[in-house]
Amino acid sequence: MEIDNLDYSKNWWKMAKEINLIPAPNGFICPDDPGEPGLKIPRWSVNEIEARIVSEFCRGLRVLEIGTGLGISTKEIARRAKWVYTVDIDPWVKENIAPSLPDNVLFYDNIKKIGAVNFDAAFIDGLHNYSQCTQDIEDARRLVKRDGLFIFHDAKMDPIRGAVHNAGLQATYIATAAGLVIAWNGGQNGRHDQDADREGGGD
Ligand SMILES: C[S@@+](CC[C@H](N)C(=O)[O-])C[C@H]1O[C@@H](n2cnc3c(N)ncnc32)[C@H](O)[C@@H]1O
Repeated sequence: MEIDNLDYSKNWWKMAKEINLIPAPNGFICPDDPGEPGLKIPRWSVNEIEARIVSEFCRGLRVLEIGTGLGISTKEIARRAKWVYTVDIDPWVKENIAPSLPDNVLFYDNIKKIGAVNFDAAFIDGLHNYSQCTQDIEDARRLVKRDGLFIFHDAKMDPIRGAVHNAGLQATYIATAAGLVIAWNGGQNGRHDQDADREGGGD
């Protein structure tokens, strides 16, 4: 990954123009955004470097995204992933953001509507409280293949780190502006296959 040679390019700013986004510190916000459901706080996108890192990890993969938001991460992941299924429960996102997503993206308003898809990876950036993040991990575990990749945004937030930790995921932190956590889907008790192999059994 050529992290020193990022092209913050036309693509990035073109995305912003498409749906009336304005740059905010470390990401975009949308002046027309009525706010996240229940919170009424405008949603905030990933920033360029975070989007690029997540996208590079997802190169060639079949990706599940929880929390479409302004579609910034979705679009950047879709540039390199095979395809992306993205989920957002907010009708405003369905109406205003989903139509702007590229052809290799499928939008869902409820994760339960996604059938038996064997995803390679999940990017989780939904509601940032402990119980919902725990639920998102459970849902992703059901849909992502064994040893598949999990990436979490906003890993600087205690509820996110707590949910990842208590789910038993083996995780590595990347110190971006909002923090990313990289982990692997090690089954219901969170262990990697390698751990189970070392101990001579499966989980
Ligand atoms: C911070 S935004 C995501 C920003 C996005 N990654 C981007 O770069 O534009 C979080 C989104 O999660 C959505 N959300 C909240 N609860 C959710 C749930 N249970 N399932 C899916 N999406 C959810 C909100 O409606 C909001 O749009």
